[in-house]
Amino acid sequence: MASKVDSELKSSIIITAALPYANADLHLGHIASTHLPPDILYRYLKHGRRRVVQVCASDDFGTPILIAAEREGKSPSEYVAYWRKRFVQDLTGLGIAYDLFYKTSSKENVKIVQRFFRVLYKKKFIFPADVDQFYCEYDKKFLPDRYVKGKCPHCGALDQYSDGCENCGRTLQAGQILEPRCAICGREPARRTSKHYFFKLSAFSQQLAEWLASNRNLQPEPRNYVLNWIKEGLQDWDITRDIRWGVKIPLREAHGKVLYGWFDNHLCYVSTALKLSRKSGRTGQKYWNDSTIYHFIGKDIVYHHYLFLPSMRLGEGSYKLPDYIPTRGHLLLQGKKISKSRKWGLKVKDFLEVLPADYLRFYLTRIVPLGQADSNFDLDELKAKINNELVANIGNFVYRSMSFIKRAHDSQVPSPIGEGEEERSLRSALATAVKESGQLIEEGHYDRALKSVLDFSTRCNQYFQQKAPWEKRSDESTTMYYSINVVASLAILIEPFLPFAANELWKQLWLKGSPAQHSWEDAGEFLLKPGHKIAEPRALIRKVEDTDIQRLQKAMASA
Ligand code: 2FM
Ligand code: ZN
Repeated sequence: MASKVDSELKSSIIITAALPYANADLHLGHIASTHLPPDILYRYLKHGRRRVVQVCASDDFGTPILIAAEREGKSPSEYVAYWRKRFVQDLTGLGIAYDLFYKTSSKENVKIVQRFFRVLYKKKFIFPADVDQFYCEYDKKFLPDRYVKGKCPHCGALDQYSDGCENCGRTLQAGQILEPRCAICGREPARRTSKHYFFKLSAFSQQLAEWLASNRNLQPEPRNYVLNWIKEGLQDWDITRDIRWGVKIPLREAHGKVLYGWFDNHLCYVSTALKLSRKSGRTGQKYWNDSTIYHFIGKDIVYHHYLFLPSMRLGEGSYKLPDYIPTRGHLLLQGKKISKSRKWGLKVKDFLEVLPADYLRFYLTRIVPLGQADSNFDLDELKAKINNELVANIGNFVYRSMSFIKRAHDSQVPSPIGEGEEERSLRSALATAVKESGQLIEEGHYDRALKSVLDFSTRCNQYFQQKAPWEKRSDESTTMYYSINVVASLAILIEPFLPFAANELWKQLWLKGSPAQHSWEDAGEFLLKPGHKIAEPRALIRKVEDTDIQRLQKAMASA
């Protein structure tokens, strides 16, 4: 049977990850649901030599960003440029391999967003309406979203922004907040009528329901609750804001407004991918429509990706809807919700100051399943998993095999003499691991795929132990030929998960190129021929110590 990827995926694949807002450091929550899962798929598909690109961008526009820039006395564009640079540093540090990490404020994105607006407006999917807005007489401006603070009308929590309550998690409509105060001067704002533009989300209810029901690649949980939202009735959506930082409304009567960030940001998936397509000389729209599209997200932005995004594309009419929207739950830290206001989190940069990137990739992959369930990042478990699985399992087998070749065979791969029952069984375990892990990755189960690779490594350790090459049995050279070859196989199999360790191992094996240049199936072949010389073995992975854990603990509490 042809594999899912072969039979379902068309000639090219476009993978996107939800765009981080350009106003704060990336933390582990971003990585767990949004940046690491697609990178595993991307790296795996590259082994299959698929034409695949992976893109992301900084989400530059919006009220919170403007407020933060004003507070720091920077221009908004200067402010977001800083954050974009920071994102690239962190993501590169983690080995997340974007072909392009661009920005929603790019000229390409602004162009496509304005085109979408014009087409949707012409088709009457966008219409003007008067809305009651907060207005500060003192600061002389309209006060959207975060420009107003007050009391939550649902749970009574104080000091909440007017667009949503951090305490009870509800989103608030303009004007709902109680006891409103201007976030700039603290005065009570007045109310003024202002002309806004609305997107007729309600007009797409049926088409959206049909798409949700017919796209069998979508996960059942989000599909079902989005279908319920549709049944309850969709609200038309205010897509404009009374601020200056955003994509300008391409109409003469723009009323000094810009488009709301959620109107422009997801179009950056398209504009960024198309920028790459232009590089390769293919026409943009055709490239998009001929590709299989993945949008990786966290569950907090389901509404936007299962309703806003597809309805805008349906209304405009020239870009296909996503094939997959892999949606994952939240990451808890030590059992507690990550919260900026409660200063509880762990920044990527702080993690990387203590431990290598592969450790984070390994642990997060192990604990985050495909699905809506939340996962818990626990420092003791991190230590146990790295020390017992990465170090004691993979690290141990690799190091033992390589050191033995160095000592007993002067670093040369020996010639096997025949193949016994154990060797046949090892080869068959390898074939199973290659097939099973590949299939699990194609199905989005990266946690189980990694487990399958680990199980194979356990099997390798057992083989080495059983065959006890140190006893100098007559088939010792066979044992070592097999062992060192499955070490090379492991380098390919771990590459999507642990790219740094995989490349280091490749170097130590003194192999040409990189593991990424080999097909997944190559992992099932023996690449090291008798006589091949390997380099000096060095421990790939060091243990996590208590002092590392203490440093991470400290970083969490001061995030
Ligand atoms: O929720 C967020 O963090 C948004 N910045 C995600 C944007 S994804 C998009 F562009 F669709
Ligand atoms: Zn004010």
